[in-house]
Amino acid sequence: MNEYNTLKKLIDKLYSSHSLLREEWTALIAGRSPRLSEYLFCLARKVRHQHYGRDIYIRGLIEFTNYCRNDCLYCGIRKSNPHIHRYRLSESEILACCRQGYKEGFRTFVLQGGEDSFYTDTRMESLIHAIKNRYPDCALTLSIGERSTDSCRHLFGAGADRYLLRHETYDAAHYAKLHPASLSAAARQKCLRDLKDIGFQTGTGFMVGSPYQTVDNLASDMLFIQRLNPHMAGIGPFIPHHDTPFSKQKAGTLELTLFLLGLLRLLLPRVLLPATTALGSIHPYGRELGILAGANVIMPNLSPRHVRDSYSLYDNKLSTGAESAEGLRLLKSQMSAIGYHIVTARGDSLVH
Ligand code: 5AD
Repeated sequence: MNEYNTLKKLIDKLYSSHSLLREEWTALIAGRSPRLSEYLFCLARKVRHQHYGRDIYIRGLIEFTNYCRNDCLYCGIRKSNPHIHRYRLSESEILACCRQGYKEGFRTFVLQGGEDSFYTDTRMESLIHAIKNRYPDCALTLSIGERSTDSCRHLFGAGADRYLLRHETYDAAHYAKLHPASLSAAARQKCLRDLKDIGFQTGTGFMVGSPYQTVDNLASDMLFIQRLNPHMAGIGPFIPHHDTPFSKQKAGTLELTLFLLGLLRLLLPRVLLPATTALGSIHPYGRELGILAGANVIMPNLSPRHVRDSYSLYDNKLSTGAESAEGLRLLKSQMSAIGYHIVTARGDSLVH
């Protein structure tokens, strides 16, 4: 049997059993080709249509603070970057974002920020109450980094529904090359298990093509995601930021990110899978191609315009045009051009 047919059989196995062995993951990822990708994407769309139809869920992303106590080597808002303007949105600014988003049809708001010690549990709780009281029909997602089990419990108790915390990379040695010594893969993974146990709809994910990443690391990521069985999985290409130690590293590719999106759709048929901002940032049709590879979520930026440039995780991050909430009309037409439609709904995960 030639290599294409061998690998095609692995995709068929993943489609029918939702599971592969480590060596099968590595063979598939290392041996991928445009023809194999086409086959994969076809099956991924079929699975996506079975569970989620042609609906696209949107989330209004509110980047409410770019202060961060961490120093991740890849990230533009790391604490030792002195060149960015640090900001925090006030509660009334955040509520104004929600008001505008609600009018436009958003029914999920994502509060995303750096690990900012200003946001104690008490401050977060009051923010959660303020949003959930005004918008009880909306889901509220937090994406604010690692917190103690106790803190996560409080935030869930206050009414937050979902939590996004990418595991970034499963392998401990690889994790250590991307992060300062104060952070560990084990702590990250424990936090994710806690979030799930507490009852959050939980999202994880990783960067594609991050420095030093190997095919074996990616196999570990897929095996970890299978075990965790998250409600959401966000992946996007690593993109260098000029003010970080990784400024000279190569970016992850569109092609590998799309392939992994397709694999994730087959691995976890009901998972919520965003076509991420990073994917849209490396290619003009990145988001459309992500949807055509099996993704079903888009997260436009609802942050006030004057802070958008300061939330610079990586260079050339999209925040205007169809990437922004104001650009929703454009986004809708881009999605209908490829046969999909944006819906006004909470868009809860079908994973349970
Ligand atoms: N390139 C791509 N993604 C990045 N993130 C942070 N920095 C970068 C970068 N340089 C991602 C991380 C984080 C998410 C909020 O943004 O995966 O979890």
